[in-house]
Amino acid sequence: ADSHEKFVQCLYDYPENTSISSVVYTQTNSSYSSVLDVSIQNLRFFNVSSKPVVIVTPLVVSHVQATIICAQRHGLQIRTRSGGHDYEGLSYVSGVPFVVVDLIKIREIEVDVENNTAWVQAGATLGELYYTISQKSRTLGFPAGVCPTVGVGGHISGGGYGFLMRKYGLAADNVTDVHIVDVNGNLLNRKTMGDDLFWAIRGGGGASFGIVVAWKINLVSVPSTVTVFRVPRTLEENATGIINKWQRVANKLNESLTIRINMARVNSSQSGNLTVQAQFESLYLGRADDLIPYLQKNFPELGLVREDCTEMSWIESILFMAGFTNGQSTDVLLNRTQLNGLSFFKAKSDYVRDPIPDVGLEGLWPFFFDDEAENAFVQFTPYGGRMDRISESETPFPHRAGNIFHIQYGVSWFEKGDVAAQRHVNWIRRLYNYTEAYVSKNPRSAYLNYRDLDIGVNNNGHTSFSQASIWGFKYFSNNFNRLARVKTRVDPRNFFRNEQSVPPLGTNG
Ligand code: FDA
Repeated sequence: ADSHEKFVQCLYDYPENTSISSVVYTQTNSSYSSVLDVSIQNLRFFNVSSKPVVIVTPLVVSHVQATIICAQRHGLQIRTRSGGHDYEGLSYVSGVPFVVVDLIKIREIEVDVENNTAWVQAGATLGELYYTISQKSRTLGFPAGVCPTVGVGGHISGGGYGFLMRKYGLAADNVTDVHIVDVNGNLLNRKTMGDDLFWAIRGGGGASFGIVVAWKINLVSVPSTVTVFRVPRTLEENATGIINKWQRVANKLNESLTIRINMARVNSSQSGNLTVQAQFESLYLGRADDLIPYLQKNFPELGLVREDCTEMSWIESILFMAGFTNGQSTDVLLNRTQLNGLSFFKAKSDYVRDPIPDVGLEGLWPFFFDDEAENAFVQFTPYGGRMDRISESETPFPHRAGNIFHIQYGVSWFEKGDVAAQRHVNWIRRLYNYTEAYVSKNPRSAYLNYRDLDIGVNNNGHTSFSQASIWGFKYFSNNFNRLARVKTRVDPRNFFRNEQSVPPLGTNG
């Protein structure tokens, strides 16, 4: 029999594992494609040839354990998927025979309002988490990402940030316990996994170390009324000058205030010509009456007025930032499909430690007028606040004090085929070459959750530490050394591997 048939038989034979047969999908199963496709978030990896030989959607931890044991026994790799948002599709695409463990059915959330904590299982989405918190309290929140369909499995293990980052840090900074299944099939918690593994999976990415089943998180307090605004300024409206000033204040403002900038091309309402618009998008943990005089004093160039501001609850601000602006019910947070549908997508990231001078910004704008940039964006997200007070080695995520903001560059397209893909990918690479002069150096840093295989990959899954260091130090700085030591202890034979997994020390070839 084929290795995958033996693998499936192994799952069925695994002790006390009877219910597993209903959640095992081989390629001949009529549900195989729908189970695989349901959480693919990037059309670049839709219908590719390198599909899993088997998909398992565990119902219980023993199904996860059986899959890990049987995959090793029968020479199959594992890719773990929670929300499927990996920018490079690493959770469901591989060049070698592999199994997808999709946690979509392990997604319970238990909120404990007495202790301001929650247990959230890995397959839950951020939207489900926010929704469940809001059902219990108007004044509790959680500092994680903006897009509600993102899965907590990948997101929290890679850091995870949103509009509460300046006040409360990353999602990973607010984890107090984890359940993870290791390469030996053991279910570990914070105590039994040891401090080093507990450290590694809060920013180092879960995929190198095991399969995360659930996180215990601390909920954070938010006021019952918050204020949001979205203020657009085009080049004709002095966007460059306003961004110049923003870079000098954004990371120093009151940490209850986050103003990020989304830049994209638009038709100028005055001239009808193409221009670049900088959208200043903000959450303030307080009332508009306090925010307006504060910004008039500290950032008058923005010209914020009362009419720009809307007061709402924190959960409504989640809907607002996710693009739901028509008074929808919070139930939309339970929807696992993206609001604007799917596109082909490529993104990259950077960190900025010194303000980009006007000449640097002015050299950026022409990129937006290229044909490929019709659906492109550049986003500046401010750091500072709590991020400055967490040391670089506290978690694997090293981008702390000294960073003013991070950049995300993204480009989407809808045209099928390699030619269109190559044109758009080349466009974003040219843009990235251009900005090199203005961003962090030695290494040029990047954010793990904005996965980018351009910055370096492992050799077909087998790799030396020195080869992995090319991308590893960009994501993790010197924390990469410790991540490799943890990997050496918990998965010395490098079973859990992918194009950007942490290698054990002493491996080569
Ligand atoms: P997915 O399931 O694809 O997993 C991502 C990686 O984690 C893979 O390597 C996978 O194997 C591994 N993994 C997943 N589950 C695991 C588990 N249970 N145990 C071990 N390893 C596991 N980020 C951010 O910080 N702030 C934001 O606002 C956003 N917004 C955003 C919007 C959109 C539309 C996209 C596509 C992405 C983002 N992101 C983001 C990036 C996001 O945080 C990142 O893609 C996460 O890794 C996604 O986690 P998922 O579980 O959804 O992905």
